[in-house]
Amino acid sequence: MVAKGALYFLLSVLITCGPDLALARHFPGRPSIHPAPYQPYKAIPLSSTRQKNKVCFVKPGHSKGHDDGPAIRAALHKCNNGGTVVLDKEYTVCSPLDLRFLKHIDIALTGKVEFCTNLDFWQQNFFTFQFQDAASWWVWGGEDIHLYGAGTGVIHGNGQAWYDAAAANESTRRPCLFITDGWHGGSITGLKLRHSPNWHNFIANSSDLLISDIDIFSRSFSSAWAANLDGWDTFRSDNVVIQNSVINHDDDCVSFKPNSTNIIVQGLHCNGSHGISVGSLGNYPDQYDIVSDLFIYNNTMANTTTAARLKVWPGAEAIKKGNPQWVGGGGQGYVRNVTYDTMINDNNNLAIQIDQCYGAINASECEDHPSGVILEDILFKNMWGTANGADDPVAGQLICAAEESCDNIRAENVTLTNPSGEPPQWQCRFMDVDQLDLGGVGCIPA
Ligand SMILES: *[C@@H]1O[C@H](CO)[C@@H](O)[C@H](O)[C@H]1NC(C)=O
Ligand SMILES: *[C@@H]1O[C@H](CO)[C@@H](O)[C@H](O)[C@H]1NC(C)=O
Ligand SMILES: *[C@@H]1O[C@H](CO)[C@@H](O)[C@H](O)[C@H]1NC(C)=O
Ligand SMILES: *[C@@H]1O[C@H](CO)[C@@H](O)[C@H](O)[C@H]1NC(C)=O
Ligand SMILES: *[C@@H]1O[C@H](CO)[C@@H](O)[C@H](O)[C@H]1NC(C)=O
Ligand SMILES: *[C@@H]1O[C@H](CO)[C@@H](O)[C@H](O)[C@H]1NC(C)=O
Ligand SMILES: *[C@@H]1O[C@H](CO)[C@@H](O)[C@H](O)[C@H]1NC(C)=O
Ligand SMILES: *[C@@H]1O[C@H](CO)[C@@H](O)[C@H](O)[C@H]1NC(C)=O
Ligand SMILES: *[C@@H]1O[C@H](CO)[C@@H](O)[C@H](O)[C@H]1NC(C)=O
Repeated sequence: MVAKGALYFLLSVLITCGPDLALARHFPGRPSIHPAPYQPYKAIPLSSTRQKNKVCFVKPGHSKGHDDGPAIRAALHKCNNGGTVVLDKEYTVCSPLDLRFLKHIDIALTGKVEFCTNLDFWQQNFFTFQFQDAASWWVWGGEDIHLYGAGTGVIHGNGQAWYDAAAANESTRRPCLFITDGWHGGSITGLKLRHSPNWHNFIANSSDLLISDIDIFSRSFSSAWAANLDGWDTFRSDNVVIQNSVINHDDDCVSFKPNSTNIIVQGLHCNGSHGISVGSLGNYPDQYDIVSDLFIYNNTMANTTTAARLKVWPGAEAIKKGNPQWVGGGGQGYVRNVTYDTMINDNNNLAIQIDQCYGAINASECEDHPSGVILEDILFKNMWGTANGADDPVAGQLICAAEESCDNIRAENVTLTNPSGEPPQWQCRFMDVDQLDLGGVGCIPA
């Protein structure tokens, strides 16, 4: 999907690197895509200009089983600091790529990059991170980087092989399709992300980034479950805009992990997800998690388990109901100033879910060990549409652990309908009901 009004201009250049020397080739210039309608609190820094004659085209190999990774890395080195790398053919990457050295560079990925399905090799060789076992075959970072696909570029993870392997052996560690680790300034636009083995995007240690016009599609075509295919997870990142994108997958559409601040999410269509979610937070004792200043505007949520969601573990280690391996809780921190404004609900189980007892065995257990992650200044407004009836007439849950662990949680102009025609009910615990304009019968005890 390419934004209307995006400006494309074809550049014709003399090739200065690569073997096809002196052949003029065309490639689309960086599109003019900007944050809209809401602007980040701090403007994305302006880029230095790219040199017209510093362009590296990457020629894919032809032999069976070849690896284009080294050629891609070499081109990024060669055209770093003021150039453009063009990936307009079909490439296969079979070895890890550490791309955290990028500076003042554009990458026109208008062709296709896919990853070898050499699962054993990858599991021994990909980049691994501590946070929730994240791993990937490449890691992107640096300063003033624009990666664009102009609506045609594809990054393909061959996820099916991973979903099937994970179904056969649950210890299979599956890579994220795309990880940024310290990407400061720039944009990622116009790409199609296909069949990610795990989270599609892990945006870590990054800032001042615009992500726009991304088309995500990942589903399993076997009986194996394509689990954990989050659209974007943000972590230790500030001043990021994610907008105008279509996401077809399972699990969180966008998930704000610890230390995600000043993030705008606008104009997404999420189908089949677990919603736009804060958390889970407070998962680990001795850690202080901050999520603040989020504005989540004008998103369409279809076929989700929950459209707008906040999940926070209790204050003491809890065991997720029915799953003794899923243990967490005891962390501290806060979620502050989070607004969900204008959310279209289409066939979701729940429209809103605050769960500050995530993983707790029961309500009294949760109240005895209330979460150390405080929720404050949370607003849901202008939400409408029809639930799918799974929990009819319940349209949502707003559950705090205790009186003192939540402050100023409000709802305005929320007008959900149920397929049964019954007025919606909202299961609440420790809410200030005067601040909740939820329509229907409003709060009932949870
Ligand atoms: C399952 O995968 C893990 C991690 O790759 C590996 O160590 C283990 O040997 C595998 N088990 C079987 C039965 O293949
Ligand atoms: C982010 O930065 C921290 C601290 O430097 C580091 O431990 C971590 O590996 C980095 N990357 C990710 C993906 O967390
Ligand atoms: C998040 O920020 C807080 C406060 O600066 C810090 O104590 C904590 O270690 C950070 N968490 C991570 C995962 O970086
Ligand atoms: C909401 O987002 C859609 C794209 O999903 C866009 O067409 C529409 O103009 C946006 N509306 C507002 C009020 O921003
Ligand atoms: C949404 O996902 C469902 C499968 O869960 C699929 O049948 C449907 O076609 C998707 N909708 C769109 C618009 O892609
Ligand atoms: C709340 O967050 C929004 C979105 O980032 C920001 O525009 C606004 O200034 C913040 N409000 C306060 C009181 O910090
Ligand atoms: C929701 O899923 C159904 C199939 O399960 C599909 O027909 C429909 O198009 C989906 N809705 C959207 C908006 O994608
Ligand atoms: C809640 O769970 C605890 C721990 O299993 C148990 O001791 C307690 O009786 C339960 N309370 C209720 C009300 O079910
Ligand atoms: C309430 O939300 C609807 C969308 O459901 C919107 O059209 C309307 O303007 C909102 N009303 C107010 C008073 O903001």
